[in-house]
Amino acid sequence: MILIKLGGSIITDKTKPLTANLAAVRKIALQLRRLEDPYMIVHGGGSFGHYWSVRYDMHTKPDRYSPKGISVVKNSMVDLNRLVLQTLFRSKVLPYCLPPTDFVSGNSPIASKVKEIPKIAHTGLVPVSYGDVMWFGKNRFYILSGDRIMGMLTRILRPRLAIFVTNVDGVYSDIKTKKIIREIGRESPTIAEVRMDVTGGMSRKIKEATEMSKCGTDVIFVNGRFPQRIAAAANGKEFEGTIFRG
Ligand code: IPE
Repeated sequence: MILIKLGGSIITDKTKPLTANLAAVRKIALQLRRLEDPYMIVHGGGSFGHYWSVRYDMHTKPDRYSPKGISVVKNSMVDLNRLVLQTLFRSKVLPYCLPPTDFVSGNSPIASKVKEIPKIAHTGLVPVSYGDVMWFGKNRFYILSGDRIMGMLTRILRPRLAIFVTNVDGVYSDIKTKKIIREIGRESPTIAEVRMDVTGGMSRKIKEATEMSKCGTDVIFVNGRFPQRIAAAANGKEFEGTIFRG
């Protein structure tokens, strides 16, 4: 089983609120059809969920956020999810929608539910989940990112491979020269240096990827603007990107 995170930066236009990039989803779907293993997709919020989360000042910390904001963010993620599901289906990938409320309670994954997901993937359907606003309890909600969902799933399922699809070529060793680090080993001392040279968003991803690789999963970062790299990475071929060795 392979986990694939489609970042909001690739499935939406982050410069335009509430604008999906369905052409990108279609091109990625064509490549996903070439995958030899069962797989699952998790997608981000991009110019849908993030746009409204910022507008209503909502964060990953459980808190008493504005009920209107919660409703708007939740609706926007359902809208984006519906567009992604429809585009996948029309591109002959058969999605099976799995909102995170199906397998997360409070802020913890429900192991018995998560363990059913690979069985769904083995039928030829493609489970699709997404970052969302979640009920935490005691009047509090929180934003659950797609990246955290990837981490939760990896800790329980220990997949062979997890792929983060973003809009950059991989993890940069130097943001100015845009030199890509090809491989990051488990005991690699370069991580601390790497973190200082990447953006906040990327450093959060690197932290999650490092934790995931400690579960024995190979974690790969590829650029979704070149979707053939997703198929190459998944099918064990040469690819351009960064790998965190599990
Ligand atoms: C965001 O999920 C979900 C919401 C804001 C509701 P992610 O944090 O995974 O989204 P991207 O990939 O960074 O856009």
